Amino acid sequence: MKIVILTGAGISAESGLGTFRDEDGLWTQYDLNDVATPEGFARNPALVHEFYNARRANCIASSPNAAHDALARLQQGAHEVTLITQNVDDLHERAGSTDVIHMHGGLMRALCAACGNRWDAAAIMSPDDPCPHCAAKSTRPDVVWFGEIPYAMDTIMQVTATADLFVAIGTSAEVYPAAGLVELAKGDTLELNLEPSARTNAFAARRFGPATEIVPAWVDEVLA
Ligand code: OAD
Repeated sequence: MKIVILTGAGISAESGLGTFRDEDGLWTQYDLNDVATPEGFARNPALVHEFYNARRANCIASSPNAAHDALARLQQGAHEVTLITQNVDDLHERAGSTDVIHMHGGLMRALCAACGNRWDAAAIMSPDDPCPHCAAKSTRPDVVWFGEIPYAMDTIMQVTATADLFVAIGTSAEVYPAAGLVELAKGDTLELNLEPSARTNAFAARRFGPATEIVPAWVDEVLA
């Protein structure tokens, strides 16, 4: 069976990484226009680096949880599993997942806004960091901001349209194009989330609860 899984911040919540839109979520503490748009970066690159430096430090200090572990286990089974994440953390990889499609980029990578070069991010990045390729001081986190096009969209749309099963885990479905992928899925669809997402009615089935409980239980069923 071809299974496509889309994860969001909810899968990393129990690893201690904040979500965006829940009570106490990051977007209740920061204005996303300041820290998650190209315009915000142009206005105040130091503030943007400070925000992502803090996210990176949290990520480094955290560990994958039972939900990340379960998806890595699923990838090792007999099914053809494509894992797409909106998350910029690396907890899927640290749980043992491979070929993870990071549609919103990753905290652990740096991108030169001048020449497009990418490299491993330093733990603490600053606006004065020169690009190792062209030396421009245009270094930014390799994360996709609002107003930018998510990565690998052609592949994502193609695998979603041809999947036997599309599963969304821990995402509020407030951000497009990720939120619209369920509409492309021609196979079965399942939502696994703490509570109904904005697109819950677009799924054929849904289960609610903490990711560390409902994801391992679902994976056990699929592998049985
Ligand atoms: P959100 O913060 O919007 O949504 C998190 C979802 O996870 C909500 O539906 C919660 O109910 C659910 N949730 C919370 N705790 C959970 C738990 N323990 N187990 C299961 N589910 C839980 O995060 P995303 O949907 O990932 O983009 O946000 C999408 C994008 O918006 C992010 O990638 C980011 C953000 O702005 C960019 O920065 C471009």
